[in-house]
Amino acid sequence: MIIQPAARIRGRLRVPGDKSISHRAAIIAALADGSSHLSNYSTSQDCAATLSCLGSLGVPIDRKGENLRIDGLGTKGLNASPAPLDCGNSGSTMRMLAGVLAGQDFVSVLTGDASLRSRPMKRIVEPLVLMGARVDSEDSRPPLRIHGSNPLKPISYDLPVASAQVKSCILLAALNANGRTEVVERLGPTRDHTERMLQWFNVSLEIDADPVGSSANTIAINGPVSYTSRDVSIPGDISSAAFLIGAAAMLPGSDLQVQNIGLNPTRAQILTLLISLGFDIQITGTREDCNEPLGDLIVRGKARICDAGSRRPGSINGPLIAQLIDELPLLAVLGSRLSGGLEIRDASELRWKETDRIAATVANLRAMGAEVEEYDDGLAVAGPTALRGAKLDSFGDHRIAMAFTVAALLADSASELSGADCVAVSFPEFFTLLDSVVGR
Ligand code: S3P
Repeated sequence: MIIQPAARIRGRLRVPGDKSISHRAAIIAALADGSSHLSNYSTSQDCAATLSCLGSLGVPIDRKGENLRIDGLGTKGLNASPAPLDCGNSGSTMRMLAGVLAGQDFVSVLTGDASLRSRPMKRIVEPLVLMGARVDSEDSRPPLRIHGSNPLKPISYDLPVASAQVKSCILLAALNANGRTEVVERLGPTRDHTERMLQWFNVSLEIDADPVGSSANTIAINGPVSYTSRDVSIPGDISSAAFLIGAAAMLPGSDLQVQNIGLNPTRAQILTLLISLGFDIQITGTREDCNEPLGDLIVRGKARICDAGSRRPGSINGPLIAQLIDELPLLAVLGSRLSGGLEIRDASELRWKETDRIAATVANLRAMGAEVEEYDDGLAVAGPTALRGAKLDSFGDHRIAMAFTVAALLADSASELSGADCVAVSFPEFFTLLDSVVGR
């Protein structure tokens, strides 16, 4: 794909439903007793993979675009799939379904594409084995053969990585455990959509959320649990919108309105951070629907950010990393345009995403003429740098493709991005929506 530099971003739009919330809504509806209607379901390939796996497990699903009816089978009512369950590129699908399947009395195989088959699963295998499931794999990489067992044993588990996928895997398994399962998040809070969705379905959770700067969050469920269906409407995906917001914020003369966007505090750190860096973002119409906060945004582009005199380098590290995890490649791109640049540390998890996002970000930024230092756990990009048009590579990773599309919009000449199609993994409408608001 050839991407020309942009002058500004102007317009009003909505982005499709949140991917993280959509996965959870579908899975939790599939385990309910009765029919749930889901609206504004994510159009992503990842969320389609979740539906197709649930379908293979016998869950009746009627999909009309972004609206679904899911006829739940109850927490232990799934049926064995005769074929392996293909999670495609989606780590969330695999890790959350593993938790569900651990508590079903049959054997399941979870597999995925080459990227997913290279991603670490020890982080979920370990707690599921403690709960009494057997999981066979080679070196804890997919395919995973899960020998489910019901009931599972309750555990108390300290998350060794700050991962919402791992936390969710255990909480979903806990629905089929006999007693109190407890997950402790000591490394900082991660997105809490599973907790919120379970509570929306009237599952009772004990949540002991420590205030900022303290040691841990504890989330507990008393199993076994059964619950009834409920309708869910899903807010727009802030992690998808972030790319459009970032481009608009950086291009003087931009004026972009994004409506109906999820503002869950464990996801909205990207806005807090951009505002603290001096970007012009207004949040309006804040409201709550289905236990998730949402609102509308107005983003205006500013020249000042790129021109400011002597700012110190910005830095992102510590517990904030988990709350910005999907936005870090984009932030590295924006950092190259900030006076003082930007350093990202404590982010070694990025090496285990759909691709090694540290290596991919460093390679593409360097191709555009940025001065970048690579660390095991992050990177530092000098700024402000005038990015050059360049040959860029998505490395098959949707968020790298979109982050470097934004970089290409900010560059001084055209860029060529290979492997751009993978944006469909999370945001199939990305290029069409971008085209509708970009001014040249
Ligand atoms: C997700 C959690 C994050 C994130 C991923 C979606 C989720 O992964 O990177 O895109 O929906 O729970 P980890 O929890 O493994 O960091």
